[in-house]
Amino acid sequence: MASISERTFIAIKPDGVQWGLVGKIITRFEQKGFKLVAMKFMHASEDLLKEHYTDLKDRPFYAGLIKYMRSGPVVVWEGLNVVKTGRVMLGETNPTDSKPGTIRGDFCVQVGRNIIHGSDSVENAETEINLWFTPEELVEYTSCAHQWI
Ligand code: RTP
Ligand code: MG
Repeated sequence: MASISERTFIAIKPDGVQWGLVGKIITRFEQKGFKLVAMKFMHASEDLLKEHYTDLKDRPFYAGLIKYMRSGPVVVWEGLNVVKTGRVMLGETNPTDSKPGTIRGDFCVQVGRNIIHGSDSVENAETEINLWFTPEELVEYTSCAHQWI
């Protein structure tokens, strides 16, 4: 059975910060009904970014991707099917293929500047959350909206 405590890792990329889209993006996840578990605004080290995108290390755009991804808010959301739903909310990797109404479909135009990252599987979400956050940074509380969602 799908778990309501499923978690995903979302990072707003530097272009999303520069466009002033942080609030709008956070709002979409809040309004959808996901529970905010952790959030911080940070400069990611090169080592952290290399680890995060390690599966892409042989791709021609890898060096450019690491250089581009230097800072932004990173967020953990929790809820039913949050990984899959989060990816649907993001849109396709290439904004050209992303439908209007999705974050990439509404706010960006090219794949190398696609403003947001979202975990692509429950397993990778867990790895990414542990990579970017310490256990103490994951906040435990009861959401009063929970029983209605
Ligand atoms: P992300 O990991 O950032 O959420 O994106 P994704 O799963 O939709 O796509 P992925 O294949 O994991 O690629 C990671 C990021 O690399 C950049 N990229 N550039 N052809 C290119 O120039 C190219 N392809 C991918 C994008 O920023 C993509 O989000
Ligand atoms: Mg990916």
